[in-house]
Amino acid sequence: MVSYKELGLVNSRELFKKAINGGYAIPAFNFNNMEQMQAIIQACVETKSPVILQVSSGARKYANQTILRYMAQGGVEYAKELGCNIPIVLHLDHGDSFELCKSCIEYGFSSVMIDGSSKPYDENVELTRKVVEYAHKYDVTVEGELGVLAGVEDDVKAESHTYTRPEEVEDFVSKTGVDSLAISIGTSHGAYKFKPGQKPEIRLDILHEIEKRIPGFPIVLHGSSSVPQDIVAEINHYGGHLKDSIGIPEDQLREAAKSAVCKINIDSDGRLAMTAAIRKVMVEHPEEFDPRKYLGPARDKLKQLYIHKINNVLGSNDKM
Ligand code: G3H
Ligand code: 13P
Ligand code: ZN
Repeated sequence: MVSYKELGLVNSRELFKKAINGGYAIPAFNFNNMEQMQAIIQACVETKSPVILQVSSGARKYANQTILRYMAQGGVEYAKELGCNIPIVLHLDHGDSFELCKSCIEYGFSSVMIDGSSKPYDENVELTRKVVEYAHKYDVTVEGELGVLAGVEDDVKAESHTYTRPEEVEDFVSKTGVDSLAISIGTSHGAYKFKPGQKPEIRLDILHEIEKRIPGFPIVLHGSSSVPQDIVAEINHYGGHLKDSIGIPEDQLREAAKSAVCKINIDSDGRLAMTAAIRKVMVEHPEEFDPRKYLGPARDKLKQLYIHKINNVLGSNDKM
């Protein structure tokens, strides 16, 4: 067992308090490999932003949980080397069992999500409460979820949104003791969040209703990529085939970040940025075969995307 505190990580409690009071949100960026980690740290150091490094089950399968843990530790040291000791949280994204959350806590995670959102309400409460009870012994913060996002969340697939029911949030928060709550208000995972012809809009009215019921309680938005159309066009220009990919408009996320939304999850936009940069090198320099020649530009494009998100969408710059 290693405590995240020994690794130089922090939990999310203080960060969320400051974010709510300051009207901004903390970026939660997923990582699976070294270039993503470097881009995140470089962008957050340059903008002086706190950050949540997220590890999904898919990332654990892809990269190995031990490697990811040491990479996060490396990220903490790298930030210091760059001259800025930004607050860094290591968070389990979409934990689906008590055992997984426990294992991550023992591995040095400072925050976990237990996602019981696809279970019946009482089971979700029971599972979340059990994780909170264990995590709080080690001062690890816990994110729960109420409501189901459309699309695919790991192995769970939902055809349409089940919006969070504002009338349930107070009961859920008090029965479970969670530190933050992910809600479903029209965001979804991946690059196809709306159908062509549909108005890309999140339900800020539900968010405000939830805020009224649990004032000042930290709210989390998953599925918050915006699917930048210039990046999609670049991918398609260099031989890709992304059709009708639509995301959440950034001005709506900026609006949400001013409220009790204090953590915004962005993964797909980073995947798109890396893909665009890699495709460009492959097409323009077919003679290249050194991975650094295409992963380097991918890392740079990713860093620029993160800087843009921090400065213009989340508002977490200069908040360390
Ligand atoms: O919530 C989903 C995240 O984007 C992680 O996706 O499970 O493919 O790693 P993943
Ligand atoms: P996107 O697919 O919209 O980037 O959402 C990521 C996410 O919610 C990770 O948990
Ligand atoms: Zn998610």
